[in-house]
Amino acid sequence: MVMDVIAAATRVEAAGHKVFHMEVGQPAAPAPRTAIEAARRALDGPLNYTEALGIASLRQRIARHYGETYNVDLDPARVIVTTGSSAGFILSFLAMFEPGDRVGIANPGYPPYRHILTALGCEPVLIETNESTRWAVTPEAVLEVHRKTPLAGLLVASPANPTGTMMRPEALADLIRLCEVEGIRFISDEIYHGLDYAFPAETALRLSPDALVINSFSKYFCMTGWRIGWIVAPEPLVRPIERLHGNLAISVPTLSQIAAEAAFDGRAEMDAVKHTYEDNRRILIEGLPKAGLDRFLPVDGAFYLYANVSRFSDDSFDFAKRMLEESHVAATPGVDFDPIDGRHYLRFCYAGSSADMREAVERIGHWLAKR
Ligand SMILES: Cc1ncc(COP(=O)(O)O)c(C=O)c1O
Repeated sequence: MVMDVIAAATRVEAAGHKVFHMEVGQPAAPAPRTAIEAARRALDGPLNYTEALGIASLRQRIARHYGETYNVDLDPARVIVTTGSSAGFILSFLAMFEPGDRVGIANPGYPPYRHILTALGCEPVLIETNESTRWAVTPEAVLEVHRKTPLAGLLVASPANPTGTMMRPEALADLIRLCEVEGIRFISDEIYHGLDYAFPAETALRLSPDALVINSFSKYFCMTGWRIGWIVAPEPLVRPIERLHGNLAISVPTLSQIAAEAAFDGRAEMDAVKHTYEDNRRILIEGLPKAGLDRFLPVDGAFYLYANVSRFSDDSFDFAKRMLEESHVAATPGVDFDPIDGRHYLRFCYAGSSADMREAVERIGHWLAKR
């Protein structure tokens, strides 16, 4: 659906209008200067394959990041560099699950989770979440599903896409404890770590040596197109993932690995970008209710706001299409994230400029007032 919205936005732009892009979940800012400069320097040298697990110095730098950010002592041998977190999911699922295995994921949630699992012959099991639990998967909901037909795995993201909400460290710990007791493999998608506004995001790594963590340079480091991320795997899974990766991809693009290592030196620049998101978040939280959209949770992290539009429409795809055509603001219909109740929701991404956010809110207000 989001691709249809993007295509419609392109048509509106071709007709000469400025579109306020709040549909695609990616930062508008470029990669850190340090990363770009390191890549430029590397272009003149040989760019050969690297080890399947990634360049050793990058793996060490990622491990150090866990000490600096979470005070967790991580052995670099557990770090595996991947082509974005997307490849991290494929490799982890292949290493952890067998065809037919059932894997729990939050509904609403990031659509590729269920599509990748299905493509690999696993069964994605949607675990219902709602506003009353701030869109978080609860141990009770997992147990209810698991008791009927056992789950082999559970995947959660905090901060989450599309809702932008986060789990408290205690809630994450409860969920991980339940998985340990029930023998369910736990996967934590931490791609939006670093973009936390309400409280610091907790890594599953601190809570269990058996949790598998997936992360990426795409969001906080603004490096979506560089296609680079990482896995922190429980020790017994490192060798299976290494063998899979060596066969499926040989290694991650060397240029991106070099840039990613240097990106860690650009955190002051990325923190400034994060402050823009914080400003944008405030603009939306204060502005959208005045514009007429008042049913959403005050988001904790990432750069998404998930608004209930059921007062206006029973069909969020149609609503998004008309909003785009008539107010030139593009947002993603909830049906992409939630096949059950998504027709009542729209996801707004606020990773653009603050001036655009202000104007988008104003345009939405005028449009809704005219309806
Ligand atoms: C929750 C979540 N996980 C993973 C990804 C994949 O990101 P990448 O492959 O760029 O690391 C995205 C992208 O939007 C996402 O929203």
